[in-house]
Formats: sequence, C-alpha cells, structure tokens
Amino acid sequence: MPHLVLDSLSADYGRDPVLSDVGLSVERGEIVSIIGPSGSGKSTLLRVLVGLLRPRAGTVAVAGTPVDYGSDAALRKVRERFAIVFQQYNLFQNMTALRNVTVAPTVVKGRPAGEVEAEARALLAKVGLSHRVEAYPDELSGGQQQRVAIARALALKPDILLLDEVTSALDPELVSEVLDTIRLLAADGMTMLIVSHEMAFVREISSKVVFMADGRVVETGPPAQIFDAPQTERCADFVRRILRH
Ligand SMILES: Nc1ncnc2c1ncn2[C@@H]1O[C@H](COP(=O)(O)OP(=O)(O)O)[C@@H](O)[C@H]1O
Ligand SMILES: [Mg+2]
Repeated sequence: MPHLVLDSLSADYGRDPVLSDVGLSVERGEIVSIIGPSGSGKSTLLRVLVGLLRPRAGTVAVAGTPVDYGSDAALRKVRERFAIVFQQYNLFQNMTALRNVTVAPTVVKGRPAGEVEAEARALLAKVGLSHRVEAYPDELSGGQQQRVAIARALALKPDILLLDEVTSALDPELVSEVLDTIRLLAADGMTMLIVSHEMAFVREISSKVVFMADGRVVETGPPAQIFDAPQTERCADFVRRILRH
C-alpha cells in the first residue's frame, strides 16, 4: 500500500482554482520532487497537505487512513502526519537552537522535557549542529538556521516531511550543507515531498518527479523521463528553459 495517496485534490484561496484534480501516490521512504513554473501551485499543494489550507475537494490518505482536514481538532492530528519546512526558516529569535527544537513537542504536545531534550540533541547532531545547540538564531548562518528548522520539523515525528524551497534563501556556498542534510534523511528512509530549484539535486535524490503547471499535475515520472525524455510538450518546454541557463 502506498504511504501517501492524493486523489482528485482541489483547492483555492476563495476565487479561481489553484489546485485542480491533483493525484499522486508516494511509497514509504520515497522522495518525490515537485517542479514547475512559479505560480503553478507547488507551495499550495504542500500547504494543503500540512493543513494550512483546507482542500475544496478530493482526499489525502496516509498509510491507508484518510486525513481529516475538517475541524480544528482534526487539524492537530494532521500535524502528526506532515511537517513542513519553508524557504524562510522562521526560528524563534529569542530561543536557542535546542529550545527551538524542543518547544513544540513540550509546550504543544505536553511531552516530558527530559525525553524531548534528548531527542532534540540527537536531531541537532544529525543535522550537524551538536556544537551549536546553545546558539541563538542570529549567531548562526542561514544554512545552520535552516538545519535547525529541519530538526524542529523532525522533532514532531512526522510520517512525511515537506520541504518548500528550503535552499532558495541561502547564499550559494551554504546550499550544499542543507542538501547534505536532506541526503542523510533520505538515507534514513524519511518519506519526503520536495519543492526545489536545485535541479541536479532533484535529479539525484528523487525516485519520482512531478511536473505541475496551472495547478495541475501535467506529468509524473522518474527523473530520467522528466529531464531527458519528457512525454508532454509543456514539461519539455519547462525543462529546456531551466536546464539552458
Ligand atoms: N495566500 C494566497 N492568496 C491568494 N492567492 C494565492 C495565495 N498564495 C498563492 N496564491 C496564488 O496561487 C497560485 C499558486 O501559488 P503557489 O502555490 O505559491 O505556486 P508555486 O509555489 O508553484 O510558485 C498563484 O496564482 C498564486 O498567486
Ligand atoms: Mg512556491
């Protein structure tokens, strides 16, 4: 059974449809990347999954269980399924790296502080920051802050991690340390949906690439298909343009 199944998902911000009839199936441990022109609905799709925007129609299922986006109580459960990391890491500036990672599990979920702290230290070690646990965000580089943000997302023990352009705000020399962290998570078997402009990375890490345009999935396939032999003119045109520069 696929780990994540989206069926006929549609969403909007009140007027025109922004996602139309989106379908996708993701196996456990699979890395799926979503590419497409600006405004094609990539961020909106991740926002719907994590419960920031209610779907207008369609269904999402994780491990065969439908995800309920219908009420605030249900949305709290959604946060146990999905965690999201954004381009802007948005750490709490007045908290250390360690506290940024422990605050949601302890305050929101009410888990025991000692246990959560031990997990948070392990997560910060995983993202290569065991020496910076007591640092405040303004003492960390962008790449380090983004790695704290990834640790913070993982502290919620999501089934599926959503990454929305997590390297787009970084200075070029800091991109690779964040990509290395994502590679580590992939090797651990984390199921991930990734929106990224780092096409070489997308090609390397993804088992499947989804090309979206105008709120629809236009083409889905392995990286070799999407980048070397796209089946649709729309995808071929996009790939030609992004790979040219
Ligand atoms: N908060 C919002 N309110 C209204 N329209 C939005 C909002 N966010 C995004 N949109 C619109 O939804 C469409 C898809 O946007 P988005 O999901 O951000 O695309 P992408 O991430 O692929 O660039 C765009 O037309 C965008 O203008
Ligand atoms: Mg976006």
